[in-house]
Amino acid sequence: MPLPRPSAADLLAWYDRHRRILPWRAPPGEPRNPYRIWLSEVMLQQTTVAAVGPRYARFLARFPSVQALAAADWAAVAEEWAGLGYYARARNLHACAQAVVAAGGFPCNIEGLAALPGIGAYTAAAVGAIAFDVPVVPVDGNVERVVARLHAVEQPLPGAKRHLTTLAGAFMADPAARARPGDFAQALFDLGATLCTPRNPACALCPWQGGCAARRAGIAGTLPRKSPKPARPLRHGAHFLLRDASGRVLLRRRPARGLLGGMLEVPGTPWREARWDTAEALAHAPAPAGWRLLPGLARHGFTHFELEMVLFTAALPPSAGPPEGEWQDALAARAAVPSVMRRLLDLAGAA
Ligand code: ADE
Repeated sequence: MPLPRPSAADLLAWYDRHRRILPWRAPPGEPRNPYRIWLSEVMLQQTTVAAVGPRYARFLARFPSVQALAAADWAAVAEEWAGLGYYARARNLHACAQAVVAAGGFPCNIEGLAALPGIGAYTAAAVGAIAFDVPVVPVDGNVERVVARLHAVEQPLPGAKRHLTTLAGAFMADPAARARPGDFAQALFDLGATLCTPRNPACALCPWQGGCAARRAGIAGTLPRKSPKPARPLRHGAHFLLRDASGRVLLRRRPARGLLGGMLEVPGTPWREARWDTAEALAHAPAPAGWRLLPGLARHGFTHFELEMVLFTAALPPSAGPPEGEWQDALAARAAVPSVMRRLLDLAGAA
């Protein structure tokens, strides 16, 4: 027997009953705020809904509108983003807010959205659909999984991405989806997050169970397949935690471009494949002082490499001139630095 075609109306009816209440979602019938929607989409890239929730509220309290964000100092934006990772996103977020204010508001079509700093195909589609009901389907990991299962696509990701995007886009031929593109996109997100989960999908509760080719074949829980990831190389760094007489720690701002661009850091060496021996590392110390190597290592995983760091600590000698950087008390330093640097503060037992 052929599979019935999954209907957008069935998914939307399910969504109307089971939609998640999320801080960036306007209740049904309420006006949608493009700034809030855009901000949520940028935060949700690579970060979970659970982790984003409290940070989103805090960010909005500090920057309640796109005008407020555009007018803010970069240092304030960087501080508010600390710990969320992928710092180029924070830089782009700030630049995007400025571009939106200069243009007099958010563009309401995909081309205009995609031309903004930091907005790729996914974010343009998500903001277009959710904020402006543009008839497109944003394809994130949830949507890839749902579509791979519905059509039993066994080609592994990332190779299958284009095919899955085409299949997802085909939903907009269904008039029920075209009538509510924003809700349809969010319904797909919710289906993927709550029922069509990576392991042990709850197919018995799924509004699309009758039309799902993977369920029929008994392979839903095994899709989407993934090509093995290349191993991440290991890099090494040595860092220097300098304290002044009142216990404050020295931080330094990284260059605006590149990894963790514009964020504060515990001063250190470049990160490279070879370990640093002590004499070589000390040439990068922010000041001459009685540097002591702490036992142990701090580790952090970036997308493209693993990092192992050793940490030297010292007190600023009374005779020393002011080193380059800024002093922060230990608690403020913890809040202001990216997670990779927090691991160094943890190693030192600082705050
Ligand atoms: N993941 C990405 N965007 C989302 C959204 N708007 N709601 C829920 N989960 C999401």
